[in-house]
Amino acid sequence: MKKYSIIANLKMYLSADQTVAFATEHFDALVKYAGHKSLAITIAPTLPVMRDLALIFKDTQLSWAAQDCSNHLAGAFTGQVSPLSLKEIGCSACIIGHSERRRFCGETSEDVATKAQLLLDCTLSPIICIGEDHEHMEQALATLHEQLNPVLQAIKNYQHKIKNIPVYIAYEPAWSIGTGKIAEGSYLESIFAWLKKETQALGAGFTWRFLYGGSVNAQTISVFKKIGAIEGFLIGKASSNFEEFEKILKSIMLES
Ligand code: 13P
Repeated sequence: MKKYSIIANLKMYLSADQTVAFATEHFDALVKYAGHKSLAITIAPTLPVMRDLALIFKDTQLSWAAQDCSNHLAGAFTGQVSPLSLKEIGCSACIIGHSERRRFCGETSEDVATKAQLLLDCTLSPIICIGEDHEHMEQALATLHEQLNPVLQAIKNYQHKIKNIPVYIAYEPAWSIGTGKIAEGSYLESIFAWLKKETQALGAGFTWRFLYGGSVNAQTISVFKKIGAIEGFLIGKASSNFEEFEKILKSIMLES
């Protein structure tokens, strides 16, 4: 049976109090789904509640991811959060290079490469987001190469250090995020085949997990489920509405 990695990127949809209410109200259901053999569920909440949630859900199979981290481990970096702190407060993974951070916060692929190294040094899984915008659809692979190559070069000698820590690559076409527009199956097939080839070039010793993100919801999930190379989903808006999120989980469980 295929096991899907489901990462709920709650972005900034819910406040700190709303996030705790969401998690505690749906505690039993979240724990039940996280324990299902076809699902590995990770939640990326707003950072101020990370430690609270990690404690509330201690000894369950839910895991926790941050939505970003600093590209430094310590020092005079006002407002930034070290990967080391993320490890201490209960995270097992961290999203890096999200298109919203590239667009609104000037995050570069070189920043993403440094963050990936620091996360692996702290035994945290990087969730490396890449994706072309609408203008670059024709040359999607060139854009993806520009975004991914610095990261792969940075971590290419890490295979002995990281043992079984998964490295996630989330293909999230920027034009699909939050728009309801989704790519053709054949387009996705070709992107994921390319991703597989690029990562295989680094040789053995890495545990890659290939995710898709962008307008995943209860309606679109059936389209994405047909792409065999997709091993999980990075879900934005739909994960902040429990009923919608639950429909997606049920659909995945049914067809796995
Ligand atoms: P939506 O699911 O809201 O399109 O967002 C996707 C995303 O950005 C996940 O990181």
